Amino acid sequence: MTLDAFAQDELDVIRQQGTYRSLRVLQNSSGPQIQLDEQRAHLFASSNYLDLAQHPEVVEAAVRAARDWGCASGGSRLINGNLSIHEALEEELAQFIGCETALVFGNGYMANAGLIPALMSEKDLIFSDALSHASIIDGCKLSKAQVRIFPHGEIAALEQGLKQAQGKARRMLIAVDGVYSMDGDYAPLRDIHALSRAYGAMLFVDDTHGIGSLGPDGRGCPALHEIAPEEIDIYLGSLAKSLGSYGAFVGGSRALRDLLINTCRSFIFSCALPPPQVEAARAALRILQREPWRRERLQANAAELRTSLHGVGIPTHPSCTQIVPVTIGSNEDTMSVCQELLARGYFAQGIRFPSVPQGTARLRLTVMATHEKEQIHGLAQTLREVLDERGLSILLPRELP
Ligand SMILES: Cc1ncc(COP(=O)(O)O)c(C=O)c1O
Repeated sequence: MTLDAFAQDELDVIRQQGTYRSLRVLQNSSGPQIQLDEQRAHLFASSNYLDLAQHPEVVEAAVRAARDWGCASGGSRLINGNLSIHEALEEELAQFIGCETALVFGNGYMANAGLIPALMSEKDLIFSDALSHASIIDGCKLSKAQVRIFPHGEIAALEQGLKQAQGKARRMLIAVDGVYSMDGDYAPLRDIHALSRAYGAMLFVDDTHGIGSLGPDGRGCPALHEIAPEEIDIYLGSLAKSLGSYGAFVGGSRALRDLLINTCRSFIFSCALPPPQVEAARAALRILQREPWRRERLQANAAELRTSLHGVGIPTHPSCTQIVPVTIGSNEDTMSVCQELLARGYFAQGIRFPSVPQGTARLRLTVMATHEKEQIHGLAQTLREVLDERGLSILLPRELP
C-alpha cells in the first residue's frame, strides 16, 4: 500500500468519526479581534491571555535580541547554545515563582515528554489525573513507568492508590495540571500536596495555564493555593501563554536542574530557545509584574463570560478560570455551532476527541485581559441564538459520560 493510499484510508476513518481537523489561516495575530481571509472576528480561543504577545515592549525586546544575538541560538544548551540571556531568564523565572532554579525548554510538550522519563522508569509508579494534558500522557508512556490514572480531581481515589502502592514502587510521582486546559478548573492542589507528603510521592504540577494568570502576583496555582514554591518538587511554567512568547521552563531544586541537564533527552538533544523568544519572555515577565491590572481584568472578564452565559441559560461547569468550556457532546453539533459562530463574527474553537473524552465535544472559550464587555455579552447572546436555532442544549455535569 502506498503512503497516500494509507493516508486516505486513515483520513476516511477520521472523517467517519467526525474528528477530521484542518488548519485555519489567520491574517493577523492573536489580539481580541482577528482577521480571517475575508472576515474579522472576535477571538475567544487564544492563550495569549494577558495580550502581551504584541505589547510594544515585548516586541521591541524581541527585535533588539534578533539584532544583538541573531534569530537562532545556534546549538543546544550543552554545546554552543547556552547564552547569558538564557541564564538571566532562568534566574528571573526562579525568583518570580520562588523556586531555587529554573531550566528553559523549547516548549511545554518537549518539557513533559523529556522530564518525566528523566525522573521515572520501569521500577517507578506515576499517578496521573484522568484529564492530564496529552504531553504528560506521552511523557508517562516514554518513561516506561507504571501509570495509574485516577478519576479527575478525585482525592479519595488517589489516596487509595497511594496507600496500595506504598513500599512497592521504587519512586512515586503524582502528575497534575494546575489548571485543566480543556475544563478550566483547578486541581485540588492543597489536598494533593498533603497526600504527596504523607505517602512520600514526588509532586509535579504543570501550571501552563496558571502562571501569569492566577494567584498573588500571577505566581500561578501553587501561590493561589498557598503552597510554598519549594513544596512543589517539579513545576512547569509556560512562556507561550500568559507570557506572550514561546517555550516553557521547569522550576525546582538545583539538583533537579542538574539532573535534567544531564539526562533529559528533550533538553540535551535539541536547540536552545532562540534569543528573540528569550528576550520577549523577559520583557513580558517584567510587564506582568508591573501591570497587575492585566491579570485582574483577565479574571474579571472570565467571571463576566461565565455570568453572561449563565444569564442566557448556558452552563459552564466546571470552569473557574479564563478557560470556559461549553459542552455540547456530539462532534458534529459542536463543529456546526463553531462554524455558525464564526459566520456571525465570533471565533470560538470546537474541541473533540482525543483532546477531550469521547462524547464531551465542546466549545473551549478563552478570554483575554483586553476583551471588552460588549464582546463578551455579544458572544453569549449569539451562542444562545445559534443553540436555539439548532435545538441544542448544553450537557450538565450529571449528563456527562
Ligand atoms: C497543560 C498543558 N501542558 C503542556 C502544554 C504544551 O505546551 P506547549 O504549547 O508549550 O508545547 C499545553 C499546551 O497548551 C498544556 O495545555
